Amino acid sequence: ALPTLGFLLFGYLLGSIPFGLILTRAAGLGDVRKIGSGNIGATNVLRTGNKKLAAATLLLDALKGTLAAAVGYHVLGPEAGIAAGFGAFLGHLFPVWLGFKGGKGIATYIGVLLGLAPLVVLVFAACWLIVAKVTRYSSLSALVATIVVPAVLLFAGYGRIGVLFVVLSVITWIKHRANIARLIAGTESRIGQKG
Ligand code: G3P
Repeated sequence: ALPTLGFLLFGYLLGSIPFGLILTRAAGLGDVRKIGSGNIGATNVLRTGNKKLAAATLLLDALKGTLAAAVGYHVLGPEAGIAAGFGAFLGHLFPVWLGFKGGKGIATYIGVLLGLAPLVVLVFAACWLIVAKVTRYSSLSALVATIVVPAVLLFAGYGRIGVLFVVLSVITWIKHRANIARLIAGTESRIGQKG
């Protein structure tokens, strides 16, 4: 159990690197937490108007999850992969460096999925793209995808990985509670809107 805990911590440290914040600061765009939703994720980085920076944030926030899960898996096995991936997700959402106020987890969710069940990333992508195309809501697209993905994992026999994603989905839904309230109130901003 101790090595597995070590991988949880390793994942946490990797996941706690807030790329959205680092990149927007480095680009001289100020503090991304002061604009739009106040989130440090790619969706909010896009509200700076810099698409490349948003894409880089998505990629890096995802890859830290993939890297953590892959390292854990290859060094120690499936359990360590799951622990490291879980750690990376927790690190992104609750980074010690930002007073535990991190992102909402979608990019890292995709990254951990890529590390542990790569084929199912296609399910995530299909759900996200369809809902985004129809509604232009980034949050709603993520909320739908994070319901479908654990269901697919459990039905397809991914076992503990399916259980992990049930947990990740519950946590990300809780982190999206302000978005859910805005979606219900009809005030959520759409992709391409600054607000
Ligand atoms: O993945 C994050 C997205 O679902 C919501 O981001 O900035 O609109 O709260 P934001």
